[in-house]
Amino acid sequence: MSKYLITGGAGFIGSTLANRVAKENEVVIVDDLSMGDKENISGLGEKDNLRFIEGSVTDQSLMTGLLQEEQFDYIYHLAAIASVADSVARPVETHVVNFESVLSLLELCRKHQKSLKRLIFASSAAVYGDEPTLPKQEESVIRPLTPYAVDKFAAERYVLNHCHLYGVPTSAVRFFNVYGPNQNPKSPYSGVLSILTDRYEKLLNGKDSSFTVFGDGQQTRDFVFVEDVVDALLLISDSQAALGNVYNVGTGEATSLNQVLDIYRDFLDTEISVEYTAGREGDIPRSYADVDRLKGLGFEPKFDVKTGIQAYLKQTLNR
Ligand SMILES: NC(=O)c1ccc[n+]([C@@H]2O[C@H](COP(=O)([O-])OP(=O)(O)OC[C@H]3O[C@@H](n4cnc5c(N)ncnc54)[C@H](O)[C@@H]3O)[C@@H](O)[C@H]2O)c1
Repeated sequence: MSKYLITGGAGFIGSTLANRVAKENEVVIVDDLSMGDKENISGLGEKDNLRFIEGSVTDQSLMTGLLQEEQFDYIYHLAAIASVADSVARPVETHVVNFESVLSLLELCRKHQKSLKRLIFASSAAVYGDEPTLPKQEESVIRPLTPYAVDKFAAERYVLNHCHLYGVPTSAVRFFNVYGPNQNPKSPYSGVLSILTDRYEKLLNGKDSSFTVFGDGQQTRDFVFVEDVVDALLLISDSQAALGNVYNVGTGEATSLNQVLDIYRDFLDTEISVEYTAGREGDIPRSYADVDRLKGLGFEPKFDVKTGIQAYLKQTLNR
């Protein structure tokens, strides 16, 4: 049995990870519930060795106390204000969570976590910005265009340097477009598939519902199913080769929004009304990952975009 700390563990990716590992391990979650929901981990109880701490990763005394008292085998730092738009609106506030909490955590690990096997930090494909070369390789040009992306990149570098300079065992991941159950559709900037699923749910329940596409729908993304993301995290956690390294986490395939709409229509046998409006400023037209580095560790995604969306809809809409 190992001991895990998952910050942001009530959120989308964190709760999926917690649900996977809590059956056989001890898990501590720190989440301020600003975006996450305890419901996401409600299937876990005391018997699963889960300890939930409602608090902020920016709370120095909380985090210091926790890392002084407990020795973790694995730490996943997923807590963040994951909205790019929010970071543009509130760069100072989001910086405290998205950057400062990471550096503090690294320092606490350096001082107190002597038996840590791995700390993994969640960075983002946003660090590549709008530089057009595809697919994105880990060594591609980095052009972070928003406070969110700048913080992710700076934090990621500190994370990797703490391995090289001080021997803290770290790795970082750059998630592409993750989708799956428990993704919160409430913000207009949430993952596009969670919004589309939410609109379809309303439609299937007999309510008026439509979906807005910004631009012509030909923009592409690398959509990766959350269970594959958890596989990647667990693989990296135990790989010696991954120490001090950063990994793209995607499928290596580009899918357009229009293709996604077709997959939903065909699987649900229902067509939602789609409104095409002007593209959003700053939206990147095409993006997908080169995942050769991750595959070099033995990763193979189990879901392509079609089977992943089908699994997602089966679970979320009971189809
Ligand atoms: N979902 C994606 O496609 C994607 C893509 C790239 C990077 N990421 C990164 O992956 C991580 C997880 O993302 P997610 O999609 O699960 O988002 P999410 O919003 O569902 O999860 C983030 C969690 O962090 C919590 N949180 C926010 N501020 C906090 C604070 N100060 N203290 C404690 N908890 C706090 C939120 O309540 C939420 O539960 C984030 O770091 C995000 O930036 C996600």
